[in-house]
Amino acid sequence: MTTHDTRPGSAGGADTAGPLHGGPDDDYTPEQLAAMPREELDRLGASYDGVQILHVDPGPEPGSALERRSVRQVGTVFALAGLAAFGFVVIYIGSGWFLPEWEWTIDSGTWSSWFTPMLGVLMGLALILVGLGLVLYTRKLLPHETAVQDKHDGSHFDRVTTGATLVGGLHNSGLARRKLITRSLAFMGGGLGLMLLMPLGGLIKNPNTGNPLGTTSWAPGVRLVRNDGTPIRPGDAVPGSLETVFPEVPGGNREADAATMLIRLRPEQVAVEEPREGQDGFGYGDYVAFSKICTHAGCPVSLYEQETSRILCPCHQSQFLVTQGAKPVFGPATRALPQLPLDVDEDGYFVARSDYLEAVGPTYWNRERI
Ligand code: FES
Repeated sequence: MTTHDTRPGSAGGADTAGPLHGGPDDDYTPEQLAAMPREELDRLGASYDGVQILHVDPGPEPGSALERRSVRQVGTVFALAGLAAFGFVVIYIGSGWFLPEWEWTIDSGTWSSWFTPMLGVLMGLALILVGLGLVLYTRKLLPHETAVQDKHDGSHFDRVTTGATLVGGLHNSGLARRKLITRSLAFMGGGLGLMLLMPLGGLIKNPNTGNPLGTTSWAPGVRLVRNDGTPIRPGDAVPGSLETVFPEVPGGNREADAATMLIRLRPEQVAVEEPREGQDGFGYGDYVAFSKICTHAGCPVSLYEQETSRILCPCHQSQFLVTQGAKPVFGPATRALPQLPLDVDEDGYFVARSDYLEAVGPTYWNRERI
């Protein structure tokens, strides 16, 4: 095989099968390398690495109008990215402090319905502007060089010259003298850093302040009504039936967490009924009412099989036994469906005796402590 080493200091240039030169560490002592200026090390390293520079565009002339205009453009984009990031932080922290409180329910046209979209838009804008600023900086202000390089094993020489190349890159970037860009970069970095830290706030701030997840609109004396708003008397349903009911409050039939199943038990079911501990008397006559929200993952449960007294959840097939306080008897759900205490008002219509005594729906963080 013919070997051809073109690196300076080598015996290359001739097609020879003789031993190769020992390498650049043999050509230059550490002291010689330490005494060389950065530019010379950079060039030397390139030549030893077999780098062939094909084209060099040095970028705009320092201090020229073109450079000043490019610096202003890049600095403006970075500053806008910082503004968007700080806007995110202000909205995230300020909600509930000097801005309206964000509620977990969504009502159109309110601060709560704009809160999350605003955070998303500002974060997206900040990241897009960061990308745009970097592209502008690279295209307009950095020198451009086209080079090809052969790859070979590393050595002390390589480490020193590569370090010089990297330092040279930083020097060529002009960041040290382009103060507007370094300041806008620092501003943007501060905003982005804070913005990325903000999600940790969810670990500190209790989103369930006031227990909105543990309460519903059911309250003493609130009537049970159908979806069309009509109230219900005990004689309206036949044994074995199930009806979905809502609290008679404004918008009650749109409150997903208040949806309730009103079930009239058959005589044989009443005979074997075993309420959960502490829930004796929650029913009214042969009626019982349970939350419609599955305690596994929150699907609506209302597939009622009266022959087996089971309510089935269609999502993951949990089953709840109506005659035993809607305890789970099959599937992934581990908690009973909460039971609504029933009564009848002076006009003979069903009312709640109180809200549910436990949170409806799936388990969530700190649920048991509320
Ligand atoms: S949501 Fe009901 S079983 Fe999963």
